[in-house]
Amino acid sequence: MRRRDWLLSTAATPIAAQAMQAAPKNIVISSANGRNACKKAMDVLKAGGDTLEAVVQGVTLVEDDPNDTSVGYGGLPNEDGIVELDASVMHGPTRRCGAVASVRSIKNVARLAKMVMEHTDHVMIAGEGATRFARAWGVPEINLLTERTRMAWMAWKQSMRDGEGRNNWTDGLDAPDKKQAAALRQIFPGADDEMIAWAMEMARHPTTGTINCLALNGKGEMSGTTTTSGLAWKLAGRVGDSPIIGAGLYVDQEVGAAGSTGRGEENIRMVGAHTIVENMRHGMHPREAALDALKRIARNYSNDEKKLNQFDINFYALRKDGVYAGASLWSGRVSRGYMASFQFAVNDGGESRLEKCVHLLERKA
Ligand code: GLY
Repeated sequence: MRRRDWLLSTAATPIAAQAMQAAPKNIVISSANGRNACKKAMDVLKAGGDTLEAVVQGVTLVEDDPNDTSVGYGGLPNEDGIVELDASVMHGPTRRCGAVASVRSIKNVARLAKMVMEHTDHVMIAGEGATRFARAWGVPEINLLTERTRMAWMAWKQSMRDGEGRNNWTDGLDAPDKKQAAALRQIFPGADDEMIAWAMEMARHPTTGTINCLALNGKGEMSGTTTTSGLAWKLAGRVGDSPIIGAGLYVDQEVGAAGSTGRGEENIRMVGAHTIVENMRHGMHPREAALDALKRIARNYSNDEKKLNQFDINFYALRKDGVYAGASLWSGRVSRGYMASFQFAVNDGGESRLEKCVHLLERKA
């Protein structure tokens, strides 16, 4: 067969024939912060629950956890010290979706996105409108900022300097010299050394977390959700990729599902999750499909590694036959001098485990 004919014939095949023949099975994958989420979602699948209900129940655990500072309650706030959450859901069997963006006082925004899907004629509701929608349905409101994240925000505010090296959020010129740790200890007398060190590290290297969770059940049904507090210290109203259907999440019941964590701006520009699902539709293995999406991001910077080194982004892909992959732009992330490999969580019926992401570029410590 000539190459051109071969390309046309694979493009016409909805998904690799081999993939369609494999029997579907219960499987859940997520970003590395979702081991408990995958386990919870698997329990829901095993009990015969719907795939979207499974992933929403899974990520709710992470949204509720104040120690995950990239999602839900206890997420790192915007530059004003206010936590703003984004989320999306897609339900494969009914091909429906929902999303919320810049939500300030509702903890479980994946559930709220599902409510938008189920109870409105819209796909996305943002800001004050989303809060009013939640209020109408009796969803309780809370302050999403914890003492821990307020301290990290304060450390960040104190680390800012104008051209003269001044900052209005620290002691004035007339005050005795004090190191930042001592200043923080004075404002937060209950904080221990570890918490103060963490807050100062967050001020310097804020995390870009998020959780994406994708599920397949034994009937071959698929769903997914992505939920986040977004980029730490962002401008108020900044919306990332997580609630953007096609970027932070995409599910096509015929093919598979994909989602993302990391710097959303890069993903929005090349609609990563949809790109990956389309790549799988045309026969690519989930791993190659996700690596191709990362190559598109690198291409947007003409493969300039100096610029690319300034951010991280990861993709997760689950094909309809249960074949999956996690892929990261870089081999690892440097945190407090250590290099940690990017991983993702998988549950195929037992305990959740972490697997290593394939990567596009090699990061040097
Ligand atoms: N990927 C999450 C965000 O950029 O907001």
